[in-house]
Amino acid sequence: MSELLILGAGGHGKVVAEAARDGGDWRRIAFLDDRHPDLDHVLDWPVLGRCEDAADLRADFTHAAVAIGDAGLRLAWLERLAALGYRLDPIVHPSASISRSARLDAGVVVLAQAAINAGTIVGRGSIVNTGASVDHDCLLGEGVHVCPGARIAGEVRIGDGSWIGIGASVVQCLTIGRGVTVGAGAAVIADVADGLTVVGVPARELRSS
Ligand SMILES: CC(C)(COP(=O)(O)OP(=O)(O)OC[C@H]1O[C@@H](n2cnc3c(N)ncnc32)[C@H](O)[C@@H]1OP(=O)(O)O)[C@@H](O)C(=O)NCCC(=O)NCCS
Repeated sequence: MSELLILGAGGHGKVVAEAARDGGDWRRIAFLDDRHPDLDHVLDWPVLGRCEDAADLRADFTHAAVAIGDAGLRLAWLERLAALGYRLDPIVHPSASISRSARLDAGVVVLAQAAINAGTIVGRGSIVNTGASVDHDCLLGEGVHVCPGARIAGEVRIGDGSWIGIGASVVQCLTIGRGVTVGAGAAVIADVADGLTVVGVPARELRSS
């Protein structure tokens, strides 16, 4: 049996902890969060300290996960935790469906009712959130977030740090660049360049006024 330390005890952290508890065989689960000591527990689990305390807790925990929404911070913490020697195995809710031919990299989180189909690669620190689906032969970069209920068709490439909003759809064989935001409910039917925000059906660039 192993011990899991989760960095980030916000709403996403709660969901990650429950997925880990339901899908794993942990002797112990605990959080770190920068609101400690004001925040000392969340649901059934203690908050033991601030994120920086991960270095001191290495002897007590075999594994770590990062439940921080900001992709840059999430990836930076994953790197530090790896350097400290934590194992960063993917956290997968037991109701998620993962193809045997899919690959989940370190620090990936896949939540309840999500599906990841044949040949898809999910890069380091990416989140496939509740009820989202990523079809066959997709390539998700690092720190991608596919929000709840989003649908990614086959052979889609999504660049590092991109965010596919809740309930959005992406048709097959497209390339979505790095640092893209796809708005809630959008239907993406053409490639999206790096850094853009797109919204609507069909999705169009949202320009700041
Ligand atoms: C796309 C998004 C990031 C834009 O946020 P923002 O920059 O704060 O934009 P604003 O709310 O100021 O809206 C700007 C304009 O875009 C429109 N707009 C914003 N989001 C939209 C969306 N998803 N679909 C269509 N239009 C949208 C607004 O109506 C507004 O139009 P107006 O200028 O004609 O009034 C945000 O609205 C969104 O969709 N976020 C996704 C949230 C999500 O998926 N959460 C899940 C968390 S797990």
